Amino acid sequence: MQTSEYQTLENANNSNTGDFLPINGTDYLELYVGNARQSAHFFQTALGFQPLAYSGLSTGVKTQESYVLKQDKIRIVLTTPLVGGTEIGKHIDLHGDGVKAIALWVDDAEKAFHETIKRGAEMVFEPIAEQDEFGSVKRAAIKTYGDTIHIFVERKDYKGIFLPHFKAWNPTYQPESIGLKYIDHCVGNVGWNEMNRWTDFYANVMGFSQLVSFDDKDISTEYTALMSKVMSNGNGKIKFPINEPAEGKKKSQIEEYLNFYGGSGVQHIAVATDDIVSTVVAMKSRGIEFLQVPDSYYDTLLDRVGKIEEELSELRNLGVLVDRDEDGYLLQIFTKPIVSRPTLFFEIIQRKGAKSFGKGNFKALFEAIEREQALRGTL
Ligand code: FE2
Repeated sequence: MQTSEYQTLENANNSNTGDFLPINGTDYLELYVGNARQSAHFFQTALGFQPLAYSGLSTGVKTQESYVLKQDKIRIVLTTPLVGGTEIGKHIDLHGDGVKAIALWVDDAEKAFHETIKRGAEMVFEPIAEQDEFGSVKRAAIKTYGDTIHIFVERKDYKGIFLPHFKAWNPTYQPESIGLKYIDHCVGNVGWNEMNRWTDFYANVMGFSQLVSFDDKDISTEYTALMSKVMSNGNGKIKFPINEPAEGKKKSQIEEYLNFYGGSGVQHIAVATDDIVSTVVAMKSRGIEFLQVPDSYYDTLLDRVGKIEEELSELRNLGVLVDRDEDGYLLQIFTKPIVSRPTLFFEIIQRKGAKSFGKGNFKALFEAIEREQALRGTL
């Protein structure tokens, strides 16, 4: 495979007929978790999310409950079963806590559904409108990799806080935001030799284009390797990198993910901030742990990336990484897994012009992940 860095490949579907699947942005991410009440506390306390909405026993839902949290444009839904033997419970048994749905905000859910089904998408549920006194939301859903789904959300006729049948959740405990703004990208790990199947899915079924590709020569250390392609929708608001494992001397970190998640799924959620230093300081003070690159990373950093506005000593103290492309530079840092299994983690990213994904940091980063794998005995 050739590296086609930063090259945008024209997608025939887009260039000839316009964008058949216009997406306004990420509407919400829904995680299935073992204990939504405690997870919600973690998202508030450690990650600065604000309580928004609730559905469960007190709204007449008997078998599951959901807490909805918000930070600027990001909405996270944490859902847990209240009884045994549910599909949600089976999902958690197989995958552990993880991302079930990446919901996409569209103007026409029916059209989004039919255009993607026509091109080969597998249905999860047909367009359905739900109402309450604040109006109506129409949603439909299709499958993507593993047990993950995309929900198309049309909310132009809705004035409520989240979705019909959710009530406001407004507890007295409301820790401050930490400056997370929006979801920059959402990364999927897929099985051996499945990367092209899923990048083809995003190209052919959803009309996305390929933004970048990295092969195992870009992303390998002495021991572990992976391959990655980044797919983006027409307006560039939705970016889905897809990783697959590659052969190395020892187990790929993607393979470790696949083993623990029980198949393909969301590996990390990258969220943007306007001030990575203050965001990371806040996260650390709230107990979030980050992957640490060796101190030597910073010795030659400015030679690699040129002039930056931030204090090098501050970035070094926090472990924030820097990379530059032809459009500018970016700052990024990765948390350790936020769930018990070594699967889901967060990336914090601040873009200063750069449109890429931190390729220059991959090697340092993957060596940091390997050190963690070695500690887990899974390298
Ligand atoms: Fe990322």
